[in-house]
Amino acid sequence: MKTILVTGGAGYIGSHTVLQLLEQDYAVVVLDNLVNASAESLRRVETITGKSVTFVQGDIRDTAVLDDIFSEHSVFAVIHFAGLKAVGESVEKPLSYYENNVYGTLTLCKAMQKHNVKNIVFSSSATVYGDPVSLPLREDMATGEPTNPYGMSKLMVEHMLSDLYVSDNEWNIVLLRYFNPVGAHESGQIGEDPNGIPNNLMPYISQVATGKLQQLSVFGDDYDTEDGTGVRDYIHVVDLANGHLKALDRLMLNMGLDKYNLGTGQGYSVLEMVKAFEKASGKTLPYKIAPRRSGDIAACYADPTKAATELNWHAEKGLDDMCADTWHWQSQNPAGYPKD
Ligand code: NAD
Ligand code: WQD
Repeated sequence: MKTILVTGGAGYIGSHTVLQLLEQDYAVVVLDNLVNASAESLRRVETITGKSVTFVQGDIRDTAVLDDIFSEHSVFAVIHFAGLKAVGESVEKPLSYYENNVYGTLTLCKAMQKHNVKNIVFSSSATVYGDPVSLPLREDMATGEPTNPYGMSKLMVEHMLSDLYVSDNEWNIVLLRYFNPVGAHESGQIGEDPNGIPNNLMPYISQVATGKLQQLSVFGDDYDTEDGTGVRDYIHVVDLANGHLKALDRLMLNMGLDKYNLGTGQGYSVLEMVKAFEKASGKTLPYKIAPRRSGDIAACYADPTKAATELNWHAEKGLDDMCADTWHWQSQNPAGYPKD
């Protein structure tokens, strides 16, 4: 049984990935400082799967904790989710973002190198493409200039890992560029639980549907898109999590460094998302048109061909599943996870 260290494994995408790792009989160690998560997510994953996780509450910037984990467990690979992800907050607190996301990854990689663990899957983002020159986005297109410190931290880590691979090609590195993760596990027991008022569209919509928030602001209706609102490639978190298991299969082939888009290839506008969520929830969602949000782009969607060809991965769930599963989670857990 192979052991996987999952940093940030108590978080939204991490918890869904841990669930699938356990189902596939991997042993899982989670390292998470719970800055944006609750340990309840992992307890629920254990209940759903009937299997247990080794949970270490700690920080990826803490060398002593990393040394303990790598000494105690024979880790085959690291799936590295840990980091901060709020775009707006990153503009307010750039040093926190560079410290957690860049220095944190650097500290992790140094510990991996020291303990001769040279397999890593990294959570990158479509944000590294910047404002797309053309669509759909392919991995061989140039990365752009991210407009905020969060995006820049992801691009910096991509460069750092690429340089690491050039220096030592015993490393196997998979960079996964996620598009817009949404949805929840079909059980409705785990899902996205943002702190405070959500920044992202889907959690905002779902909290309007429960009545926790009054009204959605649609940020701009004058983009060069079919209905004028922003278009994104929403991807179900269960499909996304599955992409990480496929990435582990790739690591086992010792293929060196690879990058993959994880998206569906299909873009939906904000208003299409509102309609689909109304259908799934049976609720009417009040919304108003508001000015564009600074830093937003008109449209962004993936060409997912490379992941299909080389990882044997493709998204199976469509927009109706994304909305129905989000609603299932949100309506059963209107206040998110109980606070510890
Ligand atoms: P999340 O906030 O739910 O998960 C991140 C986890 O990392 C949290 O559990 C948090 O407590 C933990 N963490 C943060 N800093 C840490 C540190 N220094 N040490 C240990 N643990 C730490 O976010 P998510 O949506 O699950 O995202 C996971 C990863 O995917 C992140 O790296 C994020 O940047 C990336 N990503 C997310 C999206 C998205 O829209 N959700 C899109 C593209 C990329
Ligand atoms: C989607 C669409 C908004 C909220 C962000 C990060 C990206 C990645 C995913 C982490 C846009 C519109 C939104 C609202 C709205 N994260 N919107 N009203 O901006 O594509 O991507 O999350 O890596 O790096 O930038 O996602 O969900 O915020 O927005 O109209 O209240 O919904 O303008 O068109 P985005 P989002």
